[in-house]
Amino acid sequence: MRAVREHSPRRAAKPRRQECLRSKRAHQACAPLPFGGFRAKLRARKEPIAGGRLIIAKEGSDTSVIEVTNLVKRYGRNTVLNRATFQIQDGQLTTILGPSGCGKSTMLRCMNRLERFDRGSLKIGDVEVLGTEQKQLSSAEEKDLTRRLRARVGIVFQNFNLFPHLTVLGNTVEAPMTVKGMERSQATEIARQYLSKVGLSEKEDFYPAQLSGGQQQRVAIARALAMEPEVILFDEPTSALDPQLIQEVARMLRALDDLGKTLVVVSHDMNFARRISDQVIYFEGGHAVEAGSPQEVFKNPQQEATRAFMKSFEEEEAPAGIGDAETP
Ligand SMILES: Nc1ncnc2c1ncn2[C@@H]1O[C@H](COP(=O)(O)OP(=O)(O)OP(=O)(O)O)[C@@H](O)[C@H]1O
Ligand SMILES: [Mg+2]
Repeated sequence: MRAVREHSPRRAAKPRRQECLRSKRAHQACAPLPFGGFRAKLRARKEPIAGGRLIIAKEGSDTSVIEVTNLVKRYGRNTVLNRATFQIQDGQLTTILGPSGCGKSTMLRCMNRLERFDRGSLKIGDVEVLGTEQKQLSSAEEKDLTRRLRARVGIVFQNFNLFPHLTVLGNTVEAPMTVKGMERSQATEIARQYLSKVGLSEKEDFYPAQLSGGQQQRVAIARALAMEPEVILFDEPTSALDPQLIQEVARMLRALDDLGKTLVVVSHDMNFARRISDQVIYFEGGHAVEAGSPQEVFKNPQQEATRAFMKSFEEEEAPAGIGDAETP
């Protein structure tokens, strides 16, 4: 792991989360997410971050919103996460890359308490979770921990996991009502705010089966946003989508990033990861091998395992380049 972490200069100008979501002042970050709008602005923003690096924190400093330390997760005799250690700073968009089966989805599931882990610790904001071998929780403590964690961490699954028997609005109000105990009227108001943000106000009475894949994904995002979490986890957000929708997802993630959310995205799509990330973490064998900016991890990996993975990716890319040259 690299000793220092990067912070993009544009972060300094980013509005605070509370100001964005709750202030009545008109602010560009409060506008609908860019499905059709603000494209030029976002195209400009997608340019690689120019030069400047700010070294802002040593490991374990309080600027990290997520700290995973020596986390071990076993399924029977299979150690799936093996002393995974990494940090993610507030407001960063981090992509986790790595070969199939290396534990990326399991890592996200541990971060949202869909899975318990055996050893190590996970800290998200002020919520700290220890491995079950270190701390046994009563069922009341477990319930309280899960509730506190899920209030901070939303997840958007690869296959969206929408409730098929609920409408778009029904899907979006469900978690605020059941996890946060919100009244339906308040949950509906918040749900409508976020459905409008993802451009789905017109579809609130539709059922998931009546929506396209991209629209279903936007419902899943609005549903996560309705909990107003600090952190949103995405497991392979582009893999179920047509290629043209991948661009839309990239824009939308950038817009969420600009709202001040901390985003963790697991992806196999290297070009996508290179384009959207502030930080890339390369995972292999159940732990984070290397972390850094996309430029560092893609162009100048420090670890042999990362180099081998990047090389295999470049080799996969090569035939397309040759083909391009032959295209009239
Ligand atoms: N519920 C489970 N029970 C037993 N083993 C599991 C379970 N879930 C995952 N595993 C195992 O854990 C390992 C890591 O799985 P995980 O889904 O986290 O990999 P991944 O990195 O997300 O892979 P992919 O890129 O293919 O999605 C695999 O060997 C998998 O078989
Ligand atoms: Mg996975």
